[in-house]
Amino acid sequence: MIPKAGYEFVSGGAGDEWTLRENRRAFNNYHIAAKRLVGLTKDNIDISTQLLGLKMQSPIMVAPMGAHAMVHDQGEKDTARGAGLANTLYCSSGASNATLEEIAKATTGPKWFQLYWNNDLQVTRSLLTRAKEAGYSAIILTADALGPGQPDAFKAMGSPFRPDRNFGNHDPKKGGFGNFFDQKTSLTTADIQFIKKLTGLPVIVKGVLRPDDADRFIRAGANAIQVSNHGGRQIDGVPASITALPPIVKAVNKRVPVILDGGIRRGIDIIRAIAMGADAVAVGRPMLYGLGLGGAQGVESVINFLNNDLKSTMLLTGAAKLSDLNPDYIEIVGQNEEYSTFQG
Ligand code: FNR
Repeated sequence: MIPKAGYEFVSGGAGDEWTLRENRRAFNNYHIAAKRLVGLTKDNIDISTQLLGLKMQSPIMVAPMGAHAMVHDQGEKDTARGAGLANTLYCSSGASNATLEEIAKATTGPKWFQLYWNNDLQVTRSLLTRAKEAGYSAIILTADALGPGQPDAFKAMGSPFRPDRNFGNHDPKKGGFGNFFDQKTSLTTADIQFIKKLTGLPVIVKGVLRPDDADRFIRAGANAIQVSNHGGRQIDGVPASITALPPIVKAVNKRVPVILDGGIRRGIDIIRAIAMGADAVAVGRPMLYGLGLGGAQGVESVINFLNNDLKSTMLLTGAAKLSDLNPDYIEIVGQNEEYSTFQG
């Protein structure tokens, strides 16, 4: 159902795609130590949580992703509508085809805006102000990318982004301006405060893979840390997100929430992430496959599948609520640096 260019764009990763594969494989390093005879029934299972003041029916959110028109004509409008139908947090990418205002209108659920910092400060300011006015309740600062990643297979096709769709937020016909590709590489921790002062909104720094970075960002005012390698789409050779998680959780030390994304495909992956210290997870590609197959309803069904799978897997794991999950539910396979840090 998804056009070839769209499929190559979405499914691939950077370089040899080692990190992309590792994002899935590394979950296997962490076995589930399920508990038995703990008196749970289906009705006991509660997957609701709170994140930066939002009440969430589950720890799942839709990760920010650009260019949804590559997989479905309705693009982000349908993805956002599907997230709303499933009452799920939608993160709107700065690289969307639709405008942030169109996306805000399309969802009935909560929403955050992801910023690609533009070298032209007027553009950056205007994106942030528009996001605030459109009702986005937090800003995600993506720190690990310069716009949409382009897998080799997509580049080999000549990077066939749809000529009839541009980056909506920068479209002069829709009230935008500036060149999307003119992105700032020289981001610093001072930029966190800039966003907070301008918008008064909490800032999530996305793309964190090192504990000392997480610490620096929190000291600089970050309200949450998103452990992510951008779905293996930017730099190949960095560790899987789940591998990077334990030392970061330790460094964060509950000062702010930790979000994890990368390779989340089933309830059991979410259980691992939460047991190892994440507060919530973001899901990327599966949302776009749902969009491609069934528009808004497809997205809704992906979210419902993950929520139901999480619930039944919690029952089998022997945990009633997310706050019950802790490292006691995880057995670590093999020794590596992350292992000793996690244990320590
Ligand atoms: C992304 N991602 C991303 N991240 C971001 O901060 N801004 C963006 O515009 C995009 N664009 C984007 C496009 C596509 C097609 C994909 C697949 C991903 C990364 C995304 O937010 C998230 O980190 C990963 O997708 C999570 O990994 P999984 O769930 O796809 O394995």
